[in-house]
Amino acid sequence: MLAYHAQTVHTYRSVRTQLHSIDWEHQPRQYKRYTETLTRITLDKQNPEHRFFYLIGGVTAQKSYPGVTYALRTNPSAGALYPTEVYVQIRGVKGFKDGIYHLSPYESALVLLHPLDEEEGVEPFLHVKRVIGCVFLFSALYYRSSWKYRDRAFRYCLHDTGHMIGTLEASCTLNNTPYRILYAIEKKALNKLFGFGSEEFFLSSAIVGEEDKTFTCKALLMQLPYVDGTGGFEKNRFIEDSYAMTCELTPKFQTKMALFDVDKERLKQAIWKRRSIREFTQKPLLEEEFLEAIAYISQPIVSDCDVDVEIYAIINRVEGMGQGIWKEGKYLQNGDFARKAGYLCLEQALGEKSGVTFFLVGHDAQNYQAMIQKAGIIGHRLYLISEYMGFGCSGIGAYYDEEVAEFLQSDGMVLYALAIGR
Ligand SMILES: Cc1cc2nc3c(=O)[nH]c(=O)nc-3n(C[C@H](O)[C@H](O)[C@H](O)COP(=O)(O)O)c2cc1C
Repeated sequence: MLAYHAQTVHTYRSVRTQLHSIDWEHQPRQYKRYTETLTRITLDKQNPEHRFFYLIGGVTAQKSYPGVTYALRTNPSAGALYPTEVYVQIRGVKGFKDGIYHLSPYESALVLLHPLDEEEGVEPFLHVKRVIGCVFLFSALYYRSSWKYRDRAFRYCLHDTGHMIGTLEASCTLNNTPYRILYAIEKKALNKLFGFGSEEFFLSSAIVGEEDKTFTCKALLMQLPYVDGTGGFEKNRFIEDSYAMTCELTPKFQTKMALFDVDKERLKQAIWKRRSIREFTQKPLLEEEFLEAIAYISQPIVSDCDVDVEIYAIINRVEGMGQGIWKEGKYLQNGDFARKAGYLCLEQALGEKSGVTFFLVGHDAQNYQAMIQKAGIIGHRLYLISEYMGFGCSGIGAYYDEEVAEFLQSDGMVLYALAIGR
């Protein structure tokens, strides 16, 4: 197991003894804002070309409490802290000037950071030839999350970025556009190129476009000013070191594309309406619904580092199916484990009252960054297919790692938990 993962497990004891106070007065900002002097393209939700970008992390709802209003987005986020930022290189796309943009959910806009010459691009940092279309780059501003979750926050940055890639996948599905993820990119060089401080780092990229194999771009040179995306940054050396130690990956290509047999209009509604369910009525799911969800989340994900992620399902309430621990079409153990599942999710009722509580498990410490992002992508698919079929889902990042592994009789790393149901 990777040292970072082992050192950030929750245990019954740790959650009771490692109490830290959260400084609610000084919560980091959730938006990175570039200077107003830069050109912007405000995204018009009615325009399909703009909507493609808008659905990647865009704001879809407002939640108001006395004195404060929160914007909720197409992507869920641990603690609604939104550490992930999205940048995109656009080349040869009608209606957009070639350039490097920041995708700003705050302004619902693409902010032009650097106009692009024909000869240059980010492609050399991704080890690809010139891309006609979009090259997305995903980073995390870890302090937004470590402010609350301390060392465990690096995991959430990876989950959240996986969810963000999930929003890109869904937007591509609506547009009938293929995409592929590249994890093995020159992260450190890109961090420097984009003028990041140590609080922000790239985690992955995605290509939505055609690669022109006949043309090699020159590595982009640009001078971007440093922009403080959090305010009040407090360094976490453990997270920064863990990031640096996990940047190198062993390629493991997946070229098979997902086939989502869905009604596009219904999917569009699901993307706009997606929310985390807060409470289950405990009405059961149907067996067909469970199996459809499994088929959807198990579709391949095209990438250069496709790590195996095992899906365990604790069947609590599914009509037509017995209760028990289910994995890949077989029961590992029969029985009512609903209370146990709730306990394992740090005593959260979501884990107990669900139709099904999932645990995702992986073994590949060499490819940690890609592995947890993949768990996030699978999680995002589960959210969308649940919404699509008319029930709910919630990600659960807090669980007793070692006890979950023991319960599942696995020696792997528990990557993520999710609950679905009515
Ligand atoms: C990685 C991750 C972990 C999460 N963990 C929990 C959790 O342990 N408990 C919970 O109730 N919600 C959890 N959530 C749901 C978030 O609280 C929710 O996404 C956020 O409040 C935004 O709301 P929305 O998803 O409805 O847009 C998690 C979400 C993500 C992406």
